[in-house]
Amino acid sequence: SHDRTLLDDERLLGALDVVLETGALQRESLDEDVVVEYKSRGELVTEVDSRSQERIVAHLRREFPTHGVLAEEGATADDRRRCRWIVDPLDGTTNYYHGFPTFSISVALEVDGTLELGIVYDVPGDDVYTGIRGSGAFRERTPITVSEESALERSLVGTGFDVDTTPSVETLAAIVETTQGVRRTGSAALDLIHVATGRTEGFYQGGLSPWDVAAGAVIVREAGGRITDYGGTGGLAGLESGDIVASNGLVHDALRNRVR
Ligand code: IPD
Ligand code: CA
Ligand code: CA
Ligand code: CA
Repeated sequence: SHDRTLLDDERLLGALDVVLETGALQRESLDEDVVVEYKSRGELVTEVDSRSQERIVAHLRREFPTHGVLAEEGATADDRRRCRWIVDPLDGTTNYYHGFPTFSISVALEVDGTLELGIVYDVPGDDVYTGIRGSGAFRERTPITVSEESALERSLVGTGFDVDTTPSVETLAAIVETTQGVRRTGSAALDLIHVATGRTEGFYQGGLSPWDVAAGAVIVREAGGRITDYGGTGGLAGLESGDIVASNGLVHDALRNRVR
């Protein structure tokens, strides 16, 4: 049911089917009791995370035998090849475990240290978002763009935090006081999609991992937005530090200056 006519990049097509199939399996087991383990109080991993990763990684290795894979749930090797897939098999595991229908699959391809393409699959919504460097960002086959709002006072801003560490209450208060509101979805990849589609003007979060951010970063940039670390450095800086500010570009520095 997903239109593939605009997705004529063979690497993107080579990854897309397994993402869609894996998402369908996630939807089917959403209301079942799934086996869960705790990495910590706030960080869960379910059998669905593990199964999803096995499926996606096995497929990528078959399809692209010379590429490396970096994925969240361990058991990855060869992640230093020229071409490297960066995979979050289920972004929003806490939501998933509670049956809260906001979660995604995030798959990106990095080539020689540059992020080339990203796929974020909004699984409950059954919407595929893609970005290819230099070729734009899409929801299915429709181009997406960031919002044109330039005032932080009229902006909606996403955030997230790791519940095992205390988020900066000062930052949160500063953002609440200077925007129209703050949203916390529980899936960083979808938070970036909300920026890319113009539903929010910006997003910030510290302590993220490359698989949370890589695909969404390509899509935000291709939708006309900006993504940096807290200091304002672009490229892979945010991915490497894990501290991210993403925005429509217009409110970027106003937002970033309030993030501590
Ligand atoms: C988490 C989600 C969440 C963010 C956490 C991430 P996971 O990823 O992206 O929105 O706040 O920091 O760890 O563990 O559900 O893949
Ligand atoms: Ca996790
Ligand atoms: Ca994640
Ligand atoms: Ca995950």
